[in-house]
Amino acid sequence: MNILLTGSGGREHALAWKLQQSPKCEKLFCAPGNAGIAKLAECIDLNVSDHPAVIGFCQKNNIDLVVVGPEAPLVAGLADDLKAAGTRVFGPVKAAAMLEGSKGFTKDICAKYNIPTAAYGRFSNEADALAYLAEQPVPIVVKADGLAAGKGVIVAETRKQAQKAVKDIFSGLFGDAGAEVVIEECLVGEEASFFAICDGERAVSLATAQDHKRVGVGDTGPNTGGMGAYSPAPVMTDAMVKRVEDEIINPTIKAMKDMGSPFCGVLFAGLMITDKGPELIEYNVRFGDPECQVLMMRMEDDLVELLSAAADGNLGNRQTKWKKLHAMTIVMAAKGYPGSYDKGSVIGNLENAGRPDNIEIFHAGTAQKGDDIIAIGGRVLNVTGLGCTICEARDNAYAAVENINWPGGFYRNDIGWRALEREKTDGG
Ligand code: AMP
Ligand code: GLY
Repeated sequence: MNILLTGSGGREHALAWKLQQSPKCEKLFCAPGNAGIAKLAECIDLNVSDHPAVIGFCQKNNIDLVVVGPEAPLVAGLADDLKAAGTRVFGPVKAAAMLEGSKGFTKDICAKYNIPTAAYGRFSNEADALAYLAEQPVPIVVKADGLAAGKGVIVAETRKQAQKAVKDIFSGLFGDAGAEVVIEECLVGEEASFFAICDGERAVSLATAQDHKRVGVGDTGPNTGGMGAYSPAPVMTDAMVKRVEDEIINPTIKAMKDMGSPFCGVLFAGLMITDKGPELIEYNVRFGDPECQVLMMRMEDDLVELLSAAADGNLGNRQTKWKKLHAMTIVMAAKGYPGSYDKGSVIGNLENAGRPDNIEIFHAGTAQKGDDIIAIGGRVLNVTGLGCTICEARDNAYAAVENINWPGGFYRNDIGWRALEREKTDGG
C-alpha cells in the first residue's frame, strides 16, 4: 500500500515509525515531514492547503491511504475533497471535524445527548457574555470558539481576568476563531487524554495517556502543546475507561451519525476526572502530541490495518492490543519556548542516545543541514522510553535525554510526577 502522511511534528514521526512497521506499507510519503521522518519516508514539498495539488499527488503516486496528522487540514475539508476524488482517507470530513473546530458545537451536542461536561454559555456578542459572567462564580474558563492553536482558552482566577479575556476575544485577538465565546464552569480534578479510533458507527478505544501542558516544573507557567506524556494513565482504571466509553465517546458517535456527519478518524477526548466521574473538557479530531508518541511505542496492532479498517467503515468487533509496558516521552524544546526562541542550534549525539532498544527519539522541529541535525522549531525532540514500570520508563527516557548534546534546548525534569507518586504509594 502507498501511504501519504501529512504533518511535521513528533506525532507524525511516531505515526510514520509505526506505519512503516506494517508489512502492508510499501511506500510512505510525508508532507512536509522533518529530519527524523526523512529516515523512514520520502518527505515531499506539497502544500496541504492546496487540495487539488494533494489529489493530483495521490493520483500520480497511486496513494491507497492518506493519514492526516494535524487538525487544520481536516477542519478545512481536506478529507471531503480527497473522498470526492476517490482517495481513501483516515480523518473526519469537515462537518465532523467541527467537534474540534467549534467548542460551542461540541457543548451543544453534550447538552443534547447528556454527555457530562462543564456547565456553559455560548455568546456571539460581548454585552451578553459580560452579563452572563457577572452572574457566575470564579474561577471560570473563557474560550474562543474556533481553532486558536491551543491559545484560545483562559482559565480566569478573577472576574476581572475573565472580563478582559471576553473583551480580548471579541476585539479580534484570535481572529475568526473568536467570533463566538464559550464561558464555562471551572472543573476540578486530574486531567487525562482518551483516544478512540472511529469508523462512523463504532469506536475502538486505544490505551490511555496523560500529558503535561504547562512549560514549568510542577505544572506551572504558560500552556504549551505538551512537554511530556506517559501511558498508561493510572487515573484511568478499567471502570473509568468503561464510563468514558458509555457516557462520552459512544453518545458522541451516535450524535454525529444522527446529524448526518458520521465521525471517522481518531477522536481525542480531553477529560477531567472529577469527584463525580469523567467530564469532557474538549474534543480534538487528531492524535495528541506528545500522547501519540507513547501510544505508538506501546501499540501491538498493525496501524495500517487499523486505520484502513476505520477509513473503510469496517472496524467490526476489533479491539486493540498493547504491550504490558509503560512508556514515557520527554519533550526537548528550544530555550524560550513557548515564547520566542532561536533557530539553527546544532543537536549532537542523537544517534548514540537513541541506540538502546527501549528508546526511540521522535523528531519534531528539526532539519538536516549538511551532516548536522539542527533545531528549527519550538518543540524539537521527543525522547521516548519503555520500561516495566513508569519509574523504569522514566529512568530510561531521562538517561537518553542526558546523552543528547544540545545546549540550545531545555526539558522538564518531572514528567510523570503524579503517576510516579501513585506507583510509590501503591507499591508499584
Ligand atoms: P483546551 O485547549 O480546551 O484543552 O484547554 C486547555 C487547558 O485548559 C485544558 O487542558 C485544561 O487544563 C484547561 N481547561 C479547559 N477547560 C477547562 C474547564 N472547564 N475547567 C478546568 N480547566 C479547563
Ligand atoms: N497534547 C495535547 C494536544 O495534542 O492537544
